[in-house]
Amino acid sequence: MACLRCWVEYETAKTIVIRNKVVGSVFRLIQFLIILYVIGYVCVVQKSYQVNDSVISTVTTKVKGTGFTNISGLGAHVWDVADYNIPPEGESSFFVLTNMIITPNQMQSSCPELPNQSTICMSDCDCTEGSSDVRGNGIQTGLCVNYSETVKTCEVLSWCPLEIDTDLPENPLLAGAENFTVLIKNTVTYPKFNFHKRNILPDVNSSYLKQCEFNRITDPHCPIFRLKDMVAEAEEDFQTMATRGGVLGILIDWSCDLDFPEHYCGPKYSFRRMDNKNPENNVAPGYNFRFAKYYKTTDDVETRTLIKAYGIRFDVIVFGTAGKFNIVPTIVNVGAALTFLSLVNAVCDWFLLTCTKRKELYQKHKFEYLDESNLNDETTYGTQ
Ligand SMILES: *[C@@H]1O[C@H](CO)[C@@H](O)[C@H](O)[C@H]1NC(C)=O
Ligand SMILES: *[C@@H]1O[C@H](CO)[C@@H](O)[C@H](O)[C@H]1NC(C)=O
Ligand SMILES: *[C@@H]1O[C@H](CO)[C@@H](O)[C@H](O)[C@H]1NC(C)=O
Ligand SMILES: *[C@@H]1O[C@H](CO)[C@@H](O)[C@H](O)[C@H]1NC(C)=O
Ligand SMILES: *[C@@H]1O[C@H](CO)[C@@H](O)[C@H](O)[C@H]1NC(C)=O
Ligand SMILES: *[C@@H]1O[C@H](CO)[C@@H](O)[C@H](O)[C@H]1NC(C)=O
Repeated sequence: MACLRCWVEYETAKTIVIRNKVVGSVFRLIQFLIILYVIGYVCVVQKSYQVNDSVISTVTTKVKGTGFTNISGLGAHVWDVADYNIPPEGESSFFVLTNMIITPNQMQSSCPELPNQSTICMSDCDCTEGSSDVRGNGIQTGLCVNYSETVKTCEVLSWCPLEIDTDLPENPLLAGAENFTVLIKNTVTYPKFNFHKRNILPDVNSSYLKQCEFNRITDPHCPIFRLKDMVAEAEEDFQTMATRGGVLGILIDWSCDLDFPEHYCGPKYSFRRMDNKNPENNVAPGYNFRFAKYYKTTDDVETRTLIKAYGIRFDVIVFGTAGKFNIVPTIVNVGAALTFLSLVNAVCDWFLLTCTKRKELYQKHKFEYLDESNLNDETTYGTQ
């Protein structure tokens, strides 16, 4: 019988309601702050009701424009995209040549090494046949020859005449590169939400695309950028940067809230110089590399034009996360935040029992003490 009775029993806690203005206001105030935290921070700022996904993207680029140079030794020369855009594939990272040191008509032969503490010689005894210096230009022949009227240096086997790269033109040879444009085509995917979009937005038609140019105010959705504008947005001067070269980041931010309609989700462009331009620590500034163009002369001698290329490398960097409502994180995060509400009672109890004037009275009502003697009086306990 006793067992059956406990099966059909329900236990509930006894609640003491305290009518006290101070404790009541403290209780409501803390409750209000917690609700404010859940709505304001957890929901609005953190968007904890969403699941997130990070962007997957691909980028192709196409540079346009022609430049003109008239350098002594090379003559007048028009530069088109095949000359100055390296590599030509149109990758997300592309290089535009702006300044250079050209050494034409190099052939496999022997010539005097560039003068230097370790290469200047008085006689053949100062040179060692067959030795080569990693920082030198070739393999020594063991002869000491005139470099100029006053200086003699060891002779080397190399591509001759040697490149002299000490006098870089002070202004970029291809100054017109500032007016070149680049078309950036970027497609992004958020696989978790099956969301796909291009940076050429659906409301851009082909006649607009043919003549537009990105401008943050008037044409913010045009995917064609003038090189000078991009460098200027990174707070750099194009001609200064073009002289020694550098690296410019084109950042495309695709962060989106996909609870809003799709057309609110678009690319946000920003530009930033990525290489070091710290004026205190500027040993080896800029960006350069060498390449050569090979050909054969009429008498079948292999010849090349060596170019030490200075220019700006543009790196397109795409990033972003998208969020969308999902019931699971909503329950988990809001539930976790609301558990703070149970703390309010603990805080108010402590306040009530230690800080109020009539704490003894409250304590008497809150705690019921059972002594052995009391228990003995209640002989009917549990046998009704
Ligand atoms: C989800 O992304 C939003 C921005 O889109 C961010 O505010 C939030 O903190 C992210 N949530 C998580 C759980 O990473
Ligand atoms: C190139 O410069 C030389 C002088 O340095 C000049 O005679 C020649 O006309 C120039 N060529 C062009 C196409 O401007
Ligand atoms: C120039 O001199 C340095 C040492 O002063 C040496 O290490 C370097 O190899 C020399 N360069 C050439 C081209 O010989
Ligand atoms: C090297 O220079 C010296 C003095 O400047 C000159 O006498 C000599 O003829 C030159 N040698 C060659 C091979 O030109
Ligand atoms: C670039 O174009 C502008 C006008 O379109 C022109 O004024 C400027 O001289 C050009 N820059 C160069 C280096 O040719
Ligand atoms: C293309 O769009 C522009 C505005 O973005 C508009 O002025 C022009 O008429 C459109 N052309 C065509 C062929 O739809």
